[in-house]
Amino acid sequence: MSLLHVKSFEDYKETYKKSVERPEEFWSGIAETFKWRKKWDKVLSWDFKDLNVKWFEGAKLNITENCLDRHIVERGDKPAIIWEPNEPGEAHRVLSYKQLLFKVEQFGNVLKNNGVVKGDRVCIYLPMVPELVIAVLACARIGAVHSVVFGGFSAQSIADRINDAKAKLVITADGGFRGKKVIELKDIVDDALGQCKSVEKVIVLTRARIPVSMLKGRDVWWEDEIIKVETQGNPHCPPEEMDAEDMLFILYTSGSTGTPKGVVHTCGGYMVFTGYTFTNTFQYQLGDVYFCTADIGWITGHSYIVYGPLSQGATSLLFEGIPTYPDAGRFWDITDKHKVNILYTAPTAIRSLMGFGDEYVEGKDLNSIKTLGSVGEPINEEAWEWFHEKIGKGKAPIVDTYWQTETGGFLISPIAGITPEIPSFAMFPQPGIQLVLVDENGKEIEGNDVSGNLCIKFPWPGMLRTTYGDHERCKKTYFSTYEGMYFTGDGALRDEHGYYRITGRVDDVLNVSGHRIGTAEVEDAINKHSDVVESAVVGYPHAVKGQGIYAFVVGNHRHTDEPDLMRGDINKTVSRIIGAIAKPDKIQFVSGLPKTRSGKIMRRILRKIAEGDTSNLGDTTTLLDPEVVEEIKRGAEEMRSK
Ligand code: PRX
Repeated sequence: MSLLHVKSFEDYKETYKKSVERPEEFWSGIAETFKWRKKWDKVLSWDFKDLNVKWFEGAKLNITENCLDRHIVERGDKPAIIWEPNEPGEAHRVLSYKQLLFKVEQFGNVLKNNGVVKGDRVCIYLPMVPELVIAVLACARIGAVHSVVFGGFSAQSIADRINDAKAKLVITADGGFRGKKVIELKDIVDDALGQCKSVEKVIVLTRARIPVSMLKGRDVWWEDEIIKVETQGNPHCPPEEMDAEDMLFILYTSGSTGTPKGVVHTCGGYMVFTGYTFTNTFQYQLGDVYFCTADIGWITGHSYIVYGPLSQGATSLLFEGIPTYPDAGRFWDITDKHKVNILYTAPTAIRSLMGFGDEYVEGKDLNSIKTLGSVGEPINEEAWEWFHEKIGKGKAPIVDTYWQTETGGFLISPIAGITPEIPSFAMFPQPGIQLVLVDENGKEIEGNDVSGNLCIKFPWPGMLRTTYGDHERCKKTYFSTYEGMYFTGDGALRDEHGYYRITGRVDDVLNVSGHRIGTAEVEDAINKHSDVVESAVVGYPHAVKGQGIYAFVVGNHRHTDEPDLMRGDINKTVSRIIGAIAKPDKIQFVSGLPKTRSGKIMRRILRKIAEGDTSNLGDTTTLLDPEVVEEIKRGAEEMRSK
């Protein structure tokens, strides 16, 4: 038990009270447990109107000293990373804290040799291998800003992200394994780089051993660069001293409008918030083996595979593959093989594995499991119960953690085994998180048994500080809908006991298999197809993915002859522009979209049709052409009956 663990429900209530009444005192107490080169002059200064939030101002630190160096004396030989490869037959790897530090320092020197200096942006497009963690930490070591791009994104998406951040260097691999597939990462990067003037160097890790093109002067092999560093003879790479408010990383995420935004997190506050919420929420005890199944390309991987666990001296298990390879029992095999104590995964994975049948769970031991966690989307009761009974054997608490890329870490969640839990409820605010529900006009809705839009009225250390290169956009997106508050974009209810339940996005953002996708982004991609006139994209309930993508498309002619071929074309276009994760599940061709006289698409109507609920479409009299609704309804019914 440390200062970071709350010890009882009473303790949680007291801690929460203190965190709200005396936030500076509360957070500085937590921050004291970390290693600083110099302590802060001021705990917090803030202004949501102009969006200027500073935590631990004047403090100096390097986050890798907290994630690595400070554990060496007591935990140097303890495992920091356990890596489980895609193929169960390939040997797993364990990196102790000492070994991880050694490799991070080595690669930090590789980056320096390749011209990277403090403040430079580095794009990382790697498979889930230990070198991904090493690359991320090596950037942080030398004060470079990493922008990790998920391996499922297309060349175009990588190019957009590289150009927005003006990244100087890219780190990738020849290829990566996901189940039976080999993803040709270097090829995809090569396709992107034609559009990226800022990139001077590409470091390529050997993983899949597939042929790749290597451009002289630009592309270098990871392994060769390591040998160079070894021959230079200095194994050390001193941690760069960073201001608490210096940028740590950029992570791109989708919103309801425009292109993805580069969410910016800074060094000090992010470290304190992720470390604290990791230890407290999971009630992590030193020695526990913790397995988060997310990809490091998403915020969950940043905060709760890399920074949160490592700053706490934890053992973090990294898995390269997919939950269904070689069969739907893989997570449980990994759990038994490495005696996993805490398993943190997503509802989509649970629903999908549940769908394969209990035979993949039966016969597995799973007795090492103490705590379970869920993240990324609302967890339905059926999935919660299955997870609880079959995986947690009815005894392991489940923490349903609600949070976002922008929030850096958990906002609402039970605390494992300490606070009560109810299926499909995220329950309680984390200490330091001041939640408010507001109505359409931004008026606070008080009391219990109410619902509204979920906002936060006071800063917390892990919150985003800006969106890269566009501070105005950040202010407008998150801090202007409701004055003086951060708006999450989610709706929530607070039941009669004061427990919170997330009801889902209230904007045009979809959550497909826990991946965040903006409808506008998918529409833009579809509209780039030469035979598409316009389109409208909405979400609909999907048994496994949570939400599916439903596209209504107005084509010019080709779809009438060969609709399936045209659907394939559209999917290919979306895959090229965004990535396969954004491919529509359903495409319905229509002759027009329901629009108001001012030209606004009535998504409400399309959403209802996509959901298969056409009994009450509300008022359609304001539509330019009410007839079109009937046609779309008929088309949707036809598609369903096929
Ligand atoms: O709608 C909420 C949903 O995921 C969104 C955040 O997505 P992203 O930034 O990609 O981060 C995902 C991992 C933190 C939220 O606005 N969401 C996330 N966790 C939950 C959730 N919805 C319900 N319950 C959750 N536990």
